[in-house]
Amino acid sequence: MMVEKDFILKKIKLVKGSSSWESPSNIALIKYWGKYGEQLPKNPSISLTLSKCKTITKINFRPKKENELENFSFLFNGSPKPTFHKKINQFIDRISKYIPAIKYHFFKIDSRNTFPHSSGIASSASAMSSLALCFMEIEKQITPKISKISFIKKASFLARLGSGSAARSIEGPIVYWGNSKDYDDSSLFYGTNLKNVAPVFRTFQDTILIIDKNEKKVSSSLGHELMKSNPYAENRFIQANENMTKLKDILLKGDLINFIKIVELEALSLHAMMMTSSPSFILIQPNTLSVINEVYDFRKKTSIPICFTLDAGANVHLLYPHKFFEKVQNFILEKLLKYCEFNKFINDHVGIGSKTI
Ligand code: DP6
Repeated sequence: MMVEKDFILKKIKLVKGSSSWESPSNIALIKYWGKYGEQLPKNPSISLTLSKCKTITKINFRPKKENELENFSFLFNGSPKPTFHKKINQFIDRISKYIPAIKYHFFKIDSRNTFPHSSGIASSASAMSSLALCFMEIEKQITPKISKISFIKKASFLARLGSGSAARSIEGPIVYWGNSKDYDDSSLFYGTNLKNVAPVFRTFQDTILIIDKNEKKVSSSLGHELMKSNPYAENRFIQANENMTKLKDILLKGDLINFIKIVELEALSLHAMMMTSSPSFILIQPNTLSVINEVYDFRKKTSIPICFTLDAGANVHLLYPHKFFEKVQNFILEKLLKYCEFNKFINDHVGIGSKTI
């Protein structure tokens, strides 16, 4: 297993080139909520890598000119986006410790999402992982013999420094991150692709119901911070570890009944942490609860193994096996559409991670 110092590339070389990567979003089954140090998770998490919801990033890089102050220019969906600059600056600052050559280069960054920006879908995982992969191109030019495994691990390591959940977006179909006694190769520093996955999960569906298209009112970073003083935090970290243990066998065997139990409990526990922090906050909305109740009813009536999970927002992710796609679509159109903002939902499914384009 690689430790932090193994990721430091000391060699500095001035290079010129370009790089393009697309990287998907992911949806956590066991939630990462609470961090310490430099982007290290308080508990292990595990997620399904998505396919269609992704960020496509292209960078051109060249040595920095003398007296050039800026490190980068940035376009998002073709337009300048000054509000992202702080986050990118912080990211470049953090990763320069591991690829010092970055400090001596200028980057023209062009990023776009395949999903609408105003859909309330967290884009930091796809955005930061695609950016990290593009930056890895510099390292590749400096050490062309870098192995595929080291490249992927370091890309995940760097992505984590941009956004924790981004560490889980490099590969797929299922990635874990954080120290877990259940996986010998788990690491605090990077995500690892789960090797033994029951076939049903390789084509699992995630239909995202857009309950609120606005950006969330509380940033994840603040939410993580509030875990430091949450009176239930220690128990929550224990619970996440226990759920990791239970989920291991479930993912191996394709045990959908127990999958549903753990995944829904994790979603509600995440929001319970938000509601019990100080200050407290509520991100779910009345329509989120209506959808959850409809899912309970539908599952009871049809025995279709569908469940919900939640991100740090009001939107609902419906997770279910591919063979129930038609039936679930009908259920959505009949019962759930009325709870979605502008009747919007996105059909996504599990994928195998990022790729260069
Ligand atoms: C609720 O990865 O967005 O989606 O590391 O501060 O960027 P930062 O946080 P972020 O947190 C994600 C929280 C979550 C759960 C999860 O994806 O595991």
